[in-house]
Amino acid sequence: MSVTLITGGAGYIGGHVSWACADAVRRFVVIDNLSTGSRKSLPPGTVFVEADISDDAALVSAIRDNGVTSIMHFAGSTVVPDSVADPASYYTNNTVNSLKLLRVALACGVNHMIFSSTAAVYAPAMEGLVTEDSPLRPENPYGRSKLMFEQMLADAAAAYDFRYIALRYFNVAGADPAGRVGQSTPNATHLIKVAAQAALGVRPEMFIFGDDYATPDGTCIRDFIHVSDLADAHMLALGYLENGGRSQTLNCGYGVGISVREAIAGMERASGARIPIRLAPRRPGDAPRIVADSTRLKKTLAWRPQHADLDEIVKSALEWERSLSAPTGESAR
Ligand code: UFG
Repeated sequence: MSVTLITGGAGYIGGHVSWACADAVRRFVVIDNLSTGSRKSLPPGTVFVEADISDDAALVSAIRDNGVTSIMHFAGSTVVPDSVADPASYYTNNTVNSLKLLRVALACGVNHMIFSSTAAVYAPAMEGLVTEDSPLRPENPYGRSKLMFEQMLADAAAAYDFRYIALRYFNVAGADPAGRVGQSTPNATHLIKVAAQAALGVRPEMFIFGDDYATPDGTCIRDFIHVSDLADAHMLALGYLENGGRSQTLNCGYGVGISVREAIAGMERASGARIPIRLAPRRPGDAPRIVADSTRLKKTLAWRPQHADLDEIVKSALEWERSLSAPTGESAR
């Protein structure tokens, strides 16, 4: 019987994967310190441990008490500009605590891990798509904090009876099409969520951080991936490891570059609102352009995205944001 420990399972992406596990009738247990996540993101009946992943004793008992056989590791800090302002906390949360988790996993005989890595490990690429073999040169401490743990995973897989998949996420956005879970993080900074809030008047305006990049409209270019397609990649990765698949590092994106202005325009189309925009200086640590080649993900896991459409992504993000601000007492989600 396989049982998966989901660290950060009450967060945005972890919450979608928790629901995907519940939908697939898989056994799982969530550990989350609720620093940005919420219990309301979890499917009813989820086995839940409120603890930080730096708490070895909590990890060991979560693993032993539930017969855990694999780990999906989402817990971590994810805001690029915060990592520039406070690198030490990023190296602690994303590198040191991940290493602690790995050590506990190995000590407990858990030999499969799926790790939330990031496109921020790559050097920016002003044209074309980045493959997993493209140059690695993180622009910010966030990317470096994740890359270091990828390297630890590779070394562990070479040395021990241990296999892993590192999924390098591009820009994750949108919400569960069934409306069960979405991005509830307080003080969110990610573009699509901010645009949804601005479209709904939850915030009076939004900023574009720099329109003087060497891109067609001067704003940064990103590859937005619907969170449900990303959750699906995790489920496939888990099955792959369980079936004996070897360790892999895989990009998760659609290969479509969308500028900040285009993303905001998409939100305006979806909402019918005109979003008040102010121009602000470039944000430290931002790469001008990064777009995924996900051929390896498609080949290795037979991943077939179902929601690869900006309009669908922004619409689901908007609907989720509406449900958060609806006067139904649900606003704490
Ligand atoms: N942006 C704005 N205004 C906002 C918010 C964002 O102009 O209010 C711009 C940013 O400057 C950037 C782009 O929108 O150019 C995307 O910014 P996000 O904060 O949404 O996302 P990032 O690209 O900084 O980071 C995200 C994830 C990382 C991941 C990275 C990969 O947070 O985990 O995508 O590209 F590594």
